[in-house]
Amino acid sequence: LDLDAFITGLPKAELHLHIEGSLEPEQMFEFARRNQVAIPYASVEEVRAAYDFSNLQDFLDIYYAGADVLRTEEDFRDLALAYFDRAAADGVLHAEIFFDPQTHTHRGIPFGVVANGLLAGMAAAEAKHGLTSKLILCFLRHLDEEDAFKTLSQAQPWIDRIDAVGLDSSELGHPPSKFERVFAAAAAMGLKRVAHAGEEGPPEYVYEALELLHVDRLDHGNRSLEDPALIARLARSGMTLTVCPLSNVKLCNVASIDVHPIDRMLRLGLRATVNSDDPAYFGGYVGDNFRAIAQGRTLDRDDLVTLARNSFLGSFLPDNAVATHL
Ligand code: ADE
Ligand code: ZN
Repeated sequence: LDLDAFITGLPKAELHLHIEGSLEPEQMFEFARRNQVAIPYASVEEVRAAYDFSNLQDFLDIYYAGADVLRTEEDFRDLALAYFDRAAADGVLHAEIFFDPQTHTHRGIPFGVVANGLLAGMAAAEAKHGLTSKLILCFLRHLDEEDAFKTLSQAQPWIDRIDAVGLDSSELGHPPSKFERVFAAAAAMGLKRVAHAGEEGPPEYVYEALELLHVDRLDHGNRSLEDPALIARLARSGMTLTVCPLSNVKLCNVASIDVHPIDRMLRLGLRATVNSDDPAYFGGYVGDNFRAIAQGRTLDRDDLVTLARNSFLGSFLPDNAVATHL
C-alpha cells in the first residue's frame, strides 16, 4: 500500500478546524459575486499570493477580511459542506469544527444565520457521507469579556446543538485568564471547553488554560515543550493536543516541516493529533498534514496509526462511539 493510500485509509477525526479557514479563494469569488460584495483581489492567483504570513496576526488580518463574503445561511451551509466533502475524501469520519460568531455578528450577520447555516451543512454531510460532526463556538480573545458573554447569550437558542466553547484569535497579550468567568458560565451550561494555547504564547498560557479554563483539550500546545514539568503533567493526564503542522510552518512558529516537533510529542507520551487549522490558507487539508509529517519527520506507519487513533480518543464522541473507531 503506498503512503498516500495508507494515510487516506486511516480512519480519523479532525479536532482543530476553523470553518471560516476552509474558505477557498474560488469560493470567496463565488460568494462575493452572489452577494455583490467587493473583494480587494483581481484573481484567485492574486488571493493565493497574498497568503504569505510572518506570524499569527498577519494571517488573522487577511482571514477576517476574507470572511466578509459570508452573508447568508446558504453561504455558511455551502462552506461547511464543501469542507466536509474534502474531509470525507481524506478519510475523516468525524469532525469537531470551530466557528467564530463574533466575526459575523460584528458585521451585522445574526448569530442564527451562522448557526443555522453550519448546522444545515453538518446534517447534509452526515446524510451524504455518514460523516458526523460537532460544533465548537470560539470566542475571539482580542475582544473583551463582555463581548464574549454577549455571544454566549446570543447562542442560547442553539446551545443544545453546540458541544463546546473555544478560544482563538490573537494569543499574545490575551491570556486565558481574561475569559475565566465566561468559561465557567459555559461549563455551568454543560459545554465542554477547549482553548488555543501555546501556539505563540508562553507555557504560562497553557497552565492558565488548564487551571483557570479547565480545558478538556488543548489547541496547538506547542510551546508546552519548553517546560518539562508541563510536558509531564500533560502526558500523565492524557491531555489531547490538536497539533497543526502546516499551520505552524505557514505562521512561522516552526521553521520548516523537517523540524516540526510532532514526533517528539509522541515520544514524550503526549496525546498529539494532526489537524489542518485553516486549510484554505495554510496549503492543505488533514491528509496533506499527515503526508507532510510522514515525509518530513521520522514517523513510521504505527505512529500515523497512533496519531489517527488519538483523534478519536480526544474527541467529544461518547465512549461507545469512540470504541467503534479504534
Ligand atoms: N483563528 C483561526 N486560526 C487560528 C489560529 N491558528 N490561531 C488562533 N486563532 C485562529
Ligand atoms: Zn486554530
